[in-house]
Amino acid sequence: MVKVLVSDPLAEAGVAILRDGAAVDVQTGLAREELLAILPGYDALIVRSETKVTAEVLRAGTKLRVVARAGVGTDNIDVAAATERGILVLNTPGPNSIAAAEHTLAVTLSLLRHVARADASLRAGKWERKAFVGSELYRKTLGVVGLGRIGREVTSRARAFGMEVLIYDPYVSAAAAEALGATAAPLDALLERADIVTLHLPLLPETRGILGARELARMKRGAFLINCARGGLVDEAALHAALVGGHLAGAGLDVFEREPPTDSPLLTLPNVVVTPHLAASSAEAQEGVGIVAAETTLAALRGELVDNAVNLPGLAPGALAALKPWLDLADRLGQLLAATIDGPAVTLELGFTGAMAGINPTIVGSAALAGFLRAAIPEQATLINARLLAARRGVRVSERFTAGRPDELLTFELRASAAHAEDEAGHTHSATGTVEGDGRARILALDGFAVSLDLGGKLLFISHRDQPGRIGAVGTLLGARGVNIAAMQVGRQQVRGQAVMIVTLDDPLPRPVLDEVRTIEGLRHAHYVDLGEPPMPMPADEG
Ligand code: NAD
Ligand code: MLT
Repeated sequence: MVKVLVSDPLAEAGVAILRDGAAVDVQTGLAREELLAILPGYDALIVRSETKVTAEVLRAGTKLRVVARAGVGTDNIDVAAATERGILVLNTPGPNSIAAAEHTLAVTLSLLRHVARADASLRAGKWERKAFVGSELYRKTLGVVGLGRIGREVTSRARAFGMEVLIYDPYVSAAAAEALGATAAPLDALLERADIVTLHLPLLPETRGILGARELARMKRGAFLINCARGGLVDEAALHAALVGGHLAGAGLDVFEREPPTDSPLLTLPNVVVTPHLAASSAEAQEGVGIVAAETTLAALRGELVDNAVNLPGLAPGALAALKPWLDLADRLGQLLAATIDGPAVTLELGFTGAMAGINPTIVGSAALAGFLRAAIPEQATLINARLLAARRGVRVSERFTAGRPDELLTFELRASAAHAEDEAGHTHSATGTVEGDGRARILALDGFAVSLDLGGKLLFISHRDQPGRIGAVGTLLGARGVNIAAMQVGRQQVRGQAVMIVTLDDPLPRPVLDEVRTIEGLRHAHYVDLGEPPMPMPADEG
């Protein structure tokens, strides 16, 4: 049974789902050394923001295949190091967007109406009505930096309060802002015009410090800053200076550069409202992210594709069902060619012919590379790191697309060339396949010779000159060595010309028998690969 470690608090609903499909350990608050010591036993790690999944942690997780973040931000995970190790990183965008948006408004209203301070004052026995006169949101301008899931929810709520909303998001069109009743603006213009600026963008190397001393100085005098996204987006020392100097009227902060922010001078200022990274902490959001993290981690461990993969971009939700058989085909063609090629490959060509509708060629190509590399290299080669590993090995990868009519069969060809080969014919090999209507991977050509065979099982493939007795000699030898033949196909272009033979075996082919096959007269090459279970047809659609 696969083993999953949950190292930060996860909603019970998520843990229960995990327990149905895995051996689960929930161990929160582990020291770094403790985490490093136990991680080698686990196939997946599920975290929130407390566990720092560094390159060192990923190295310790020698069996790790999945790291899931129950939340949106993956800035506590070294995604590049995970990618390099072929580890899938998941997050759970969506279920906590409403919670984060509502918390943003809660912090904003608390700041502008002095809710936290007034509460503390009344509890201290005071009745201070004049000291806590606030400001309204109505007719104020809100500057939203980052119009993703949370930014959109904040925008629509701000519009309901009667606010004008300016948006800065370089990856979102002006039309998308207008559709929400907002206006797109450059960052500087937004900072200059907004009464309240709120951040809803990820912490990335390029967004770290996006609000530094210069940007804070550009903000309107007397404006407020809200950060319920990530510490690190704002230069905290510059913010402190802007608040103390009176340039900014106040700040609402749910996140900090260092959490918990013990000793932060920001906590001493009366015009700052703080919460301890609570924006996503609603019961509904935590249950939602827990369930999605659990379900998608188990699915990924079963080898299924999930659409919340951070380091496998370009997967459109809903496209997975159509893509899965193509990934299977590409991976198997990659394994087949890896078994054929003499010497290390220097070029790999990925060729698609036909109408590509619904098929993501980049990911299919990565699957072919992963299948190809898996045989040759000790590291785990996966969809995630295949292109990186190929580049690192100096393998040149090229892609070719030949358009076809929508009704034309889509085929995928993988062509591999080696630098060194015994002869010119061994230099380049190719295999072409397609996905049948029922989802099965089928090989249509090997080294340019037409064949037609389900692409799976134990395959012996031979390049030979078409002469009487060749097929018989192979059959006789295999029979004599107790290797049963399930099926055989021969592809040739002309009688007595060059040909290929693909023999499907019921039994594994021992290496000494393969060596014997190679001694049969007239054979140029013989190779063997076990592609695992033949692909299963997909169940037919009901109704
Ligand atoms: P999202 O991916 O849907 O949206 C992020 C948006 O930021 C995107 O539209 C993107 O185009 C934009 N963006 C990227 N770089 C930008 C830049 N340089 N300038 C302006 N915009 C830029 O993510 P989301 O679900 O809306 O979450 C946003 C962030 O909020 C997360 O990355 C996470 O760090 C944070 N978050 C915090 C909490 C919390 O508990 N405090 C909860 C949820 C999310
Ligand atoms: C997130 O990025 O989703 C938040 O930081 C949520 C959390 O509190 O884990």
